[in-house]
Amino acid sequence: MLTADATPSTKPALHAIRGAFLDFLEDPYHVPESESVRYIPDGLLVLENGCIKALGDYAAMRTEYPEVPVTHHRDRLIVPGFIDAHIHFTQTEMIGAYGEQLLEWLNKYTFPTEAKFQDKDYARQIAAFFLDELLKNGTTTAVVLAAVFPQSVEAFFEEAQQRNLRMVAGKVMMDRHAPDYLTDTAETAYTDSRALIERWHGCDRLLYAITPRFAITSTPAQLRAAGKLLEEFPDVYLHTHLSENMAEVQFTMELFPDCTDYLNVYESFGLVRDRSIFAHGVQLSDSEFERLSRAGATIAFCPTSNLFLGSGLFNLRKAKSKEAPVRVGLATDVGGGTSFSMLRTASEAYKVTQLRGDRLSAFQTFYMMTLGGARSLLLDDKIGNFQVGKEADFVVMNLQSTPVLALRNPVAVPSDFQAMADAVFGTMILGDERAIAATYIAGQLTYKHPEA
Ligand code: GUN
Ligand code: ZN
Repeated sequence: MLTADATPSTKPALHAIRGAFLDFLEDPYHVPESESVRYIPDGLLVLENGCIKALGDYAAMRTEYPEVPVTHHRDRLIVPGFIDAHIHFTQTEMIGAYGEQLLEWLNKYTFPTEAKFQDKDYARQIAAFFLDELLKNGTTTAVVLAAVFPQSVEAFFEEAQQRNLRMVAGKVMMDRHAPDYLTDTAETAYTDSRALIERWHGCDRLLYAITPRFAITSTPAQLRAAGKLLEEFPDVYLHTHLSENMAEVQFTMELFPDCTDYLNVYESFGLVRDRSIFAHGVQLSDSEFERLSRAGATIAFCPTSNLFLGSGLFNLRKAKSKEAPVRVGLATDVGGGTSFSMLRTASEAYKVTQLRGDRLSAFQTFYMMTLGGARSLLLDDKIGNFQVGKEADFVVMNLQSTPVLALRNPVAVPSDFQAMADAVFGTMILGDERAIAATYIAGQLTYKHPEA
């Protein structure tokens, strides 16, 4: 017999958020802003069971939902949660390491730090710090490298699960050109990754990425094992690094002399397809861009990392070409990258395009951080904007978060579209975690700025 306690409530509770809403329906790089950008200066977002039930002008929506309890974020701009397409949780504590470029930086700083993640308690402690840092910065989804140790992935997923986050992560596969204390083998990488996929992929909001670190640190046998896993689990991700630094490209071609270029190494093991995420792509040839486009693969553009490690200027214009577009996500790449903030990352992305004689509007960049990021992960049916049915991960932004920004943006949330675009651009160039007033995960307030 059912007791009253065991009876499900008759109707799930609705709640709603009032404020100014900005999101994207298409890519403003290719579709005019009038069709791609949605701006509602005074809107109401109705939430049900962690998902979006409705969004519209406040007055009209209030008539439709007269009873729903409302939280009003007055003078704030509400945008979809930011998506960081490539980041290492194991490099949190070595961010800002002095003086080296990629290969020396890995040997001198990265590998010794990643060794600490053999200890699961330590991994859990850093995962907790890392995830709290993401939420503080408005990042609600990230594609994350753990360390070579399976327990580092376990610790990460357990912490992400506790916070109900939509996260993609995987165990680094690495069986050569790294210290012995940090290597696996082709066989253990296969069996450990397989066990992690079976345990975690699709568990709550968590997804798995098969993660060979890069071609230099995997033998052909290990890359073959990665390809076999992808065949066996076609809906998991492939996540690795590609063509970041000149010395890396040269060493890769020495290790794989039969391959025509760097991308061809991954192609020859069946690793290039949609759901394949390649970080950097700074040194890619035209042919590699075209093949990435045809495969439906994704590049994670990591501007702060590419500048900090002296890797070079990513050719965003080429990736966004109409003829052969490549999916692009924006990424911090901490700890090669120098900030957890997607706003700071966006600011450096803008400067990279300037140095290439190009430009990047606030809307093009915010698209890349939200719907574009979701599309780059083939998750745009679930996250990325405020379309009905999607998961309600979103960020409440303060466009006057510092004295300088308050001076620059005298109206907290302009109702005029162009004025709002300018205020958002200012915050993208000057803003950081202080601009994040609150972060909601699946409709729940999960982070609130102490002064918000
Ligand atoms: N290539 C291989 N491993 C790494 C890493 O940890 N960081 C960066 N930036 N590039 C890499
Ligand atoms: Zn990286």
